[in-house]
Amino acid sequence: MFKDGLLAGKRALISGGGTGLGKAMGHRFMELGADLVICGRREELLEGTADEFANEFGREVEVRQCDIRDAEAVDAMVEAAFQTAPIDVLVNNAAGNILARYETLSPRAIDAVLGIVLHGAAYLTLSCGKRWIELGQAANVLSIVTTYAWTGSAYVVPSAMGKAGALALTRSLAAEWGHHGIRLNAIAPGPFPTKGAWDRLLPTEDYAKEFETRMPLGRAGEIPELADLAAFLVSDGAGYITGEVVTIDGGEWLGNAGQSNLMKSMSDADWVAFRERQKGG
Ligand code: HXC
Ligand code: NAP
Repeated sequence: MFKDGLLAGKRALISGGGTGLGKAMGHRFMELGADLVICGRREELLEGTADEFANEFGREVEVRQCDIRDAEAVDAMVEAAFQTAPIDVLVNNAAGNILARYETLSPRAIDAVLGIVLHGAAYLTLSCGKRWIELGQAANVLSIVTTYAWTGSAYVVPSAMGKAGALALTRSLAAEWGHHGIRLNAIAPGPFPTKGAWDRLLPTEDYAKEFETRMPLGRAGEIPELADLAAFLVSDGAGYITGEVVTIDGGEWLGNAGQSNLMKSMSDADWVAFRERQKGG
């Protein structure tokens, strides 16, 4: 879908780059010529991903163990990464989520999710952004949110609050940092079958199957589809796009939002009968 070398010369820092969507985006970025720095809490797992990529692409991946809830640790990690070479692309991908009734959550549970999703993204963006501004370097940030950043969602309230904040960060800084040549965009994925999301968020197999019927396109997302969208948004080809959020959800949120969408279950005969009833009225 893209020409070789689309991201050559770019160095991308991906939080949560050792697993799931973060790993898939990193793979695609490397395939298109970018160099990679990945961070997360589990160093061994990050090293495993880095080894895989180094074997496949013949280029080293920089691994930085870091809990992004800790602002000082984030700034030290970003400083160390910039010491190797400046970062050009930050992907705020790391997240934590708890599927539970809000009234059962402890304050620590709320803080655990907001600490990763909102504060982690805010600290990473701050640490990279102030260096870009000081260096006079053009750069961009891509934040992975969700469609419930704007609709909200039951049973994932701290995540919804955090993602709404990450989207506000994206739009606000697009206005504030545009004149520094810094773009900020977001991707709002619907369901993509990663281990992290599926194990935590789908309580039973039956629920998982039913879940996949929510999409007008009739399926969950394919992970490379998201990786391609990310590659486009961080590339210079998207150089005039900033403050935008691109939804990639197979129509999920709109398909479940429109008042009459439920009528998709009506048969042809139901529609004929309905028309007759309307005539009568
Ligand atoms: C209620 C819970 C809980 C649960 C944890 N807690 N799980 N409360 N129900 N299911 C509470 C704990 O009791 C504790 O509070 C507090 O939360 C912190 O828990 P810890 O285990 O100490 O936290 P920590 O080790 O920091 O783990 C953070 C985490 C965890 C968010 C809880 O799930 C995590 O590390 N997640 C990272 C990966 C992830 O979530 N990936 C999914 C991304 S998918 P007390 O008061 O008892 O100490 C996504 C969108 C998908 O975001 C949407 C489409 C399907
Ligand atoms: P995942 O594999 O569980 O990814 C979460 C990543 O975040 C892990 O690599 C994890 O690594 C890292 N992380 C968590 N807490 C961290 C912390 N405190 N510091 C540093 N790193 C931390 O799940 P995923 O599905 O790929 O999710 C990726 C992104 O897509 C998330 O932003 C998620 O909200 C979003 N999303 C996913 C879906 C979906 O259906 N999959 C839908 C909508 C949005 P460690 O545990 O090693 O730290």
